[in-house]
Amino acid sequence: MTTRLTVPTDRPYDVVIGNGVHEQLRGLVGFGLGVLRVAIIHSPTMAKQAEVLREPLVSDALEVHLIEVPDGEQAKTSDVLAFCWKVLGETGFTRSDVIVGLGGGATTDLAGFVAATWLRGVRFVNVPTTVLGMVDAAVGGKTGVNTSEGKNLVGAFHEPVGVLCDLDVLQSLPPAELRSGLAEVAKCGFIADPTILDLIEAAPEAVTEASSPIVAELIAKGITVKARAVAGDLRETGEDGQIGREALNYGHTFGHAVERFEHYRIRHGEAVSIGMVFVAEVAHRAGRIDQDLLDRHRSILGTLGLPMTYRPGIWEALSATMRLDKKTRGDQLRFVVLDGLARPTILAGPDEQLILDAYRAISS
Ligand SMILES: NC(=O)c1ccc[n+]([C@@H]2O[C@H](COP(=O)([O-])OP(=O)(O)OC[C@H]3O[C@@H](n4cnc5c(N)ncnc54)[C@H](O)[C@@H]3O)[C@@H](O)[C@H]2O)c1
Ligand SMILES: [Zn+2]
Repeated sequence: MTTRLTVPTDRPYDVVIGNGVHEQLRGLVGFGLGVLRVAIIHSPTMAKQAEVLREPLVSDALEVHLIEVPDGEQAKTSDVLAFCWKVLGETGFTRSDVIVGLGGGATTDLAGFVAATWLRGVRFVNVPTTVLGMVDAAVGGKTGVNTSEGKNLVGAFHEPVGVLCDLDVLQSLPPAELRSGLAEVAKCGFIADPTILDLIEAAPEAVTEASSPIVAELIAKGITVKARAVAGDLRETGEDGQIGREALNYGHTFGHAVERFEHYRIRHGEAVSIGMVFVAEVAHRAGRIDQDLLDRHRSILGTLGLPMTYRPGIWEALSATMRLDKKTRGDQLRFVVLDGLARPTILAGPDEQLILDAYRAISS
């Protein structure tokens, strides 16, 4: 089964989810738009898949360049960016040509930024190969690289002309990467679409098997939540107190602090999982969610095999890092919390003792 979702931005584009959907790349390169060249920027893990994408394009008489970049986060550097620009320059890449990003979120962030910057912007097709890349990074138009001072400090908004989520590639994804991506899907369940949580509870075993149809359904639902938030109508799902795109930051304020403390040696979804349990503890203590919803966080994330506790005794460091978070306003901490299931809201300047107690609850 193939699912097609439209992201309703100023220039709407489709996200196609299913087995073998890479075959739709030909339809996305835009033959009517004068395309002559396609550059596929891919991670080493996707070298074979890059060949698979290349073949039909070559049969269509396109000039296809495979640009292999270092694995994962190592691709998001100015050196790799300059290398990609050099290849495009050498091949005479023009404004009617197309860049394809093939890999996890790190690879597609880089490829999207190459597309955003080459000749002030060329068409970009996103082919994410991790659950996190599909659910989180592929929709929304954020592209960029890191600097030695921090992650994603340089970037641009550049939306793709299409996103192809080929479920076949998930077969080779390491289980820990799969689970990390599912943390973002669970997040979408808590902030906007509780049917995601119902699905996980109904099939606790199948949810961590890449080939299961439930994983496909979860990915589609997660992308739908992100696409709505990005298009600015997450509000549709609730009445008052809805907060739009910022809701996607659920679990991320504490999660980012954990990532920084671990020097990014923890997976993003794992850090977000810990962050969601922390912020659920905060919301419970602030009288916003009941014990059942707090417990549901632990049971869902536990089913997904995600971490829910963190090191004790480092509150000062974490708290200082959270105050540096780019979403912080002034010195006041700001958390996305739930005011009940699927009712995200902002809690600004929470009581210090309350958040310390929440930290103790997840670290002892
Ligand atoms: N643009 C956005 O809105 C956005 C949102 C969230 C995250 N991100 C970015 O995404 C990145 C994290 O993405 P990620 O979790 O996909 O990490 P990643 O890109 O580093 O990929 C994780 C690992 O999985 C490997 N891999 C990828 N696909 C595979 C497959 N099908 N089979 C086997 N191995 C495979 C990669 O080679 C890598 O080693 C971060 O750089 C983050 O900043 C961007
Ligand atoms: Zn995230």
